Amino acid sequence: MSIFDTEVIKGFIRMCNDGFEQGWHERNGGNLTYRMRTQEVLQCKPYFKVKGEWTKMSVSAKNLAGEHFISTGSGKFFRNVILEPQNNICIVEINSDGDSYRIVWGLENGGVPTSEFPSHFMNHTVRKDATNGETRVIYHAHTTSVIALTYILPLTDKVFTRTLWQSATECPVVFPGGIGVVEWMVPGSTEIAIATSKLMKKYDAVIWAHHGMFASGPDFDITFGLMHTIEKAAEIYLNVLQSNRPVIQTITDNNLREIAKYFGVNLAEEFLDN
Ligand code: 13P
Ligand code: ZN
Repeated sequence: MSIFDTEVIKGFIRMCNDGFEQGWHERNGGNLTYRMRTQEVLQCKPYFKVKGEWTKMSVSAKNLAGEHFISTGSGKFFRNVILEPQNNICIVEINSDGDSYRIVWGLENGGVPTSEFPSHFMNHTVRKDATNGETRVIYHAHTTSVIALTYILPLTDKVFTRTLWQSATECPVVFPGGIGVVEWMVPGSTEIAIATSKLMKKYDAVIWAHHGMFASGPDFDITFGLMHTIEKAAEIYLNVLQSNRPVIQTITDNNLREIAKYFGVNLAEEFLDN
């Protein structure tokens, strides 16, 4: 038995590899964090090796005090996670004040959790509250087509939500609440963490202009599926633009309402026109 036999570590590694295979993780691009269940912490605890002191963070959250997160390492490549998980991912524990972390497993050749940990942490605190503790996964990926769209569409929640809803019939069912958009900001900064988490109060996915996307969810499947669905819709929209053919029909706002009614989801009306 090793830590790699636990379902949670297996699931985390698989998600990193799936993302890499989609082409969303060039070099060290993207990062993933997972807020562990008590049972999962107990399963992994026999393999813990507490390293170093507590590191103070630029952000804090009372509702994450004492939590454990699995995190990709800063500067580590998603393509290497499956080969050497112990050197590319880690488990961190948050202190009782919710303002510092320490590594309790992993990154055996040295390293720190992702440079986007402030954004992940702020998104975890907000999504944990917004979903009554259901949200456990925060995923950042450099999704090619979504990034491309941030150069040609106005950077508003409404334009991106409606455009993507209209780009594939499943979209309003998968993200009925819409998507938020953060203008270009310096990655890794406290400012982008705060701006993203403000939108995460309302949305489960947020686009970072000219950079990528953040998706959240209760488990690896749902979160990966959300990222995948949004990115695929963006790809379809771009394919249509690149076809150089005029759009002669689309999914209308009333069609979107019909889908929502049929599937019993609450579609955010604010993004529809007529
Ligand atoms: P890290 O390697 O620190 O996770 O950073 C990658 C990234 O995507 C920054 O936005
Ligand atoms: Zn990034």
